[in-house]
Amino acid sequence: MRTLTVELQDRSYPIFIGPGLLQNIRLIQPYLKGPQAILITNDTVSQWYLKPTLNALKQLDLKQVDIHIIADGEQHKTLETFEQIQSALLKKGHHRNTTLIALGGGVTGDITGFAAACYQRGVNFIQIPTTLLAQVDSSVGGKTGVNHPLGKNMIGAFHQPTCVLIDTLALRTLPQRELAAGTAEIIKYGLIYSESFFIWLEENIEKLIALDPETVTEAIEQSCAIKAEIVGQDEQEQGLRAILNLGHTFGHAIETGLGFGQWLHGEAVALGLLMACDLSERIGWLDNSIGKRLKHLLQTLTLPTTLPKNLSTEQILSLMKLDKKVLNDSIRLVLLRSLGHAVVTEDFLTDQLIKTLNTFTTPTTLSS
Ligand SMILES: NC(=O)c1ccc[n+]([C@@H]2O[C@H](COP(=O)([O-])OP(=O)(O)OC[C@H]3O[C@@H](n4cnc5c(N)ncnc54)[C@H](O)[C@@H]3O)[C@@H](O)[C@H]2O)c1
Ligand SMILES: [Zn+2]
Repeated sequence: MRTLTVELQDRSYPIFIGPGLLQNIRLIQPYLKGPQAILITNDTVSQWYLKPTLNALKQLDLKQVDIHIIADGEQHKTLETFEQIQSALLKKGHHRNTTLIALGGGVTGDITGFAAACYQRGVNFIQIPTTLLAQVDSSVGGKTGVNHPLGKNMIGAFHQPTCVLIDTLALRTLPQRELAAGTAEIIKYGLIYSESFFIWLEENIEKLIALDPETVTEAIEQSCAIKAEIVGQDEQEQGLRAILNLGHTFGHAIETGLGFGQWLHGEAVALGLLMACDLSERIGWLDNSIGKRLKHLLQTLTLPTTLPKNLSTEQILSLMKLDKKVLNDSIRLVLLRSLGHAVVTEDFLTDQLIKTLNTFTTPTTLSS
């Protein structure tokens, strides 16, 4: 087992990573606050992991363990699902010292964290992420929230978990498409923060996607270490943390444009990373071999490298303007100064952005 710490003064917390950790749930005992807990999972994850988790939870010093099952899917990351959790907590008499335990992917983690942030103005929560994306990204850093029909993750709060338990064996039941999508976020860490990690990924991508145990653990540990370091320096995204959004302004526009749930988050981010590289090259910052290397990696993972036909440059552009990173009406983006070095910038022309978007759209042929 490997242990990392997210350093946030009195809110510092450990990330435990390793195979079979669900069976070793005693690790979370010190991070419970009282005798009550509620396990929040969805109707897919519950099929595999509800029973073993409940059995494992019996090892802990808890008097009341409730279960709340939410509907599976990004389209259910809503205020409605959030409210159902609040109702369950109230009906079952949960007190201020209860613990919400999220068992599932990023959707479950984000909603559970937001529910914990708001219930009685903030209660304890623990993450047990079961998708690759959640294990390397969403479970770490305390961003929680839900979607609004007008924009993704538009309603939320910063609320840190008190511990993150990552069982790498949970990835064995994850569909290949989800695995590839999670890998996009791993590649993102190399691009924004570590050239050597990017090169390691190029060398190990086949082993990673085949779930070679050592490679998976290493990739998760490296990713969490980079995220922990960035979050430790800038918890509330006043500056540095924004670089974690590389590819995301593009990606969120794609997700919103297609309708939530059409493309996976990581798939949209994958294409967004490529767009960010293209624009970084176009403004003369980035060596143009990086985009080619990234495209090759994404193709190995069968991740998208072009936009679907039904999305136009105009649509993407107007959706990008809705994104949170728009200040005073000008679009701010995370771009790459070089491989392993990202910055937030407005230093590009709209015309250059349009050219980038055009590179990835499928031209519609006029029919007579
Ligand atoms: N909070 C953050 O910092 C942050 C960062 C990145 C992404 N996110 C959010 O995370 C979400 C995406 O997360 P995701 O990709 O994990 O999606 P998800 O939670 O929808 O999970 C993907 C699918 O895999 C299923 N699943 C989960 N674990 C499984 C397992 N072990 N075996 C088989 N199936 C399993 C889920 O039921 C779901 O159908 C988005 O809403 C995104 O906005 C948040
Ligand atoms: Zn993401």
